[in-house]
Order: sequence, then C-alpha cells, then structure tokens
Amino acid sequence: MAMTEDLEQAFNDQITLEFSSEFAYLQMAAYFEQRDLSGFAEWMRLQAAEEHTHGMKFFDFLLNRGNTVTLGALDAPKSGFGSVVEVFEASLAQEKRVTASIHDLYARCSAASEYQALPLLHWFIDEQVEEESSVSKIVEQVRMAGSDGAALLFLDRELGERGPTE
Ligand SMILES: [Fe+2]
Ligand SMILES: [Fe+2]
Repeated sequence: MAMTEDLEQAFNDQITLEFSSEFAYLQMAAYFEQRDLSGFAEWMRLQAAEEHTHGMKFFDFLLNRGNTVTLGALDAPKSGFGSVVEVFEASLAQEKRVTASIHDLYARCSAASEYQALPLLHWFIDEQVEEESSVSKIVEQVRMAGSDGAALLFLDRELGERGPTE
C-alpha cells in the first residue's frame, strides 16, 4: 500500500536533500582540485557519489511502495570557500542537517504506523552516525594542521586513500 501524500512529499524532499548534498560535495571537490589538494578532492568526489546512492535508495523505496517520485529543484551549493577548514565545517553542517531530516522522517513514519519505512530509515540513522563521526574527525585534524602546509599535505594524502565503499 502506498504511503500518504504528506509522507510521500517528505520522502521526495529527502531525495532532493540527498542530491543537494551531492551538489555541495561536488562543489567542494572542485575547490580542492583547483588548489592541487587532490586527496581532499577525491574524498569529496566519493562523498558526492555516496550521496547520489542515498538519493536513489529513497527514489527506489518510493517506487517500490507504489508512491510517486517528484524531484524538487536543487539550489546552487555554497561556493567561494575561504579555507580548507571552512569546507569541512560546511560539510559537517550539511551532514547535521541531513541527520535532523532523517530523524524527523523516522518520527513521522513511527507516528503514522508506517512500519515498512522504518528499516530503511534505521539504515540511514546508522549511516549518519558514521558520516558525522568521520567528518568531525577531519574537521579536528585540519584545524590542528592550521596553516602548516606539510601537515595539510599529509592529511590530503591520507584522505585520498579512502576506498570507494567506505
Ligand atoms: Fe546522505
Ligand atoms: Fe552524507
């Protein structure tokens, strides 16, 4: 049975939010690539690809439930960052926004006894714990590196080694 119209809208909004995250991370990838920080850029590209798969999970879920997919407009992502730290702080803020949105979806689906949506949302709740934790760690590390070029290059290399499934 399909979900109610207001839940359908909420899931469609979540698809748009995941694709907005994809856009945000692509913009960040470009920022790093232009500054020859190709490890950070690679990390952002992988992050963007992951956000795409998140959007598609919700996309497929709506279709499997017999609901309608209606994609929303994507706003231009933030660009013109002032520093490496600022980029990762923006990334953390984006993840926190997504976490709040998923928690809200979970609360709404629970209240509506929409049990079939809960396993998917549970997966996303776990995923957000991972994402926030890994981005917070990077924010701390780039803060520690500060304006030390050697330390930044070390982190750039380390992040560039991140695997595509991580
Ligand atoms: Fe996501
Ligand atoms: Fe994310």
